[in-house]
Amino acid sequence: MFLLIAYATTDGQTRRIARFAADRLAAVGHSVELLNVEDSEGLDLARFDAAILAGSLHAGGYQKALARFATDQATLLALMPTLFLAVSLSAAGNDPDDWAGLRKCLAEFETGTGWTPDRVEHVAGAFRFSEYDFFRAWAMRRIADQKGEAIEAGKDKEYTDWAAFGAALDSWVADLPKAGAASAG
Ligand SMILES: Cc1cc2nc3c(=O)[nH]c(=O)nc-3n(C[C@H](O)[C@H](O)[C@H](O)COP(=O)(O)O)c2cc1C
Repeated sequence: MFLLIAYATTDGQTRRIARFAADRLAAVGHSVELLNVEDSEGLDLARFDAAILAGSLHAGGYQKALARFATDQATLLALMPTLFLAVSLSAAGNDPDDWAGLRKCLAEFETGTGWTPDRVEHVAGAFRFSEYDFFRAWAMRRIADQKGEAIEAGKDKEYTDWAAFGAALDSWVADLPKAGAASAG
């Protein structure tokens, strides 16, 4: 199969997650194109058998560039199997309010773009203090405090469960229809 992984990232964790997915899917014999949505101009989505879109939540919204990409490609995305990797810190815990918030943000993204993914994986992201400016570091330290998370000054903290994420990818790819119109693998 020929698979597209198109991602948007603000601080880099979604890029890591998208790369992990690309490596995992390539390792089992698929052809994978990994693309930052910022570089997607002229992309012919019809070449792919299936697509993964990935983005992260920042102040209640996924990246605008990802929303633009999904909006522009909504018609073609509806014709192929799709997976949305929705990265956030809310997904790191079990707080019902946080999960209700995730569902709301996802619904807004779907309504706003006109794209409804076949499958959604909420993936826990990371605090990336090495990437934050002073004000974001301050805001994120407050959030960490409110959640009772111990943060070492200036140190990143990753919540992504790579084993669980890998298993979710394996399950998604195993369920794909075997022969695609533009199959290359
Ligand atoms: C300024 C800022 C705002 C954020 N807002 C939210 C939020 O509203 N909900 C949430 O669950 N996570 C939120 N996060 C956590 C990010 O989704 C998480 O850090 C993720 O790993 C970022 O991915 P990226 O490195 O690809 O940008 C926020 C992070 C930052 C820095």
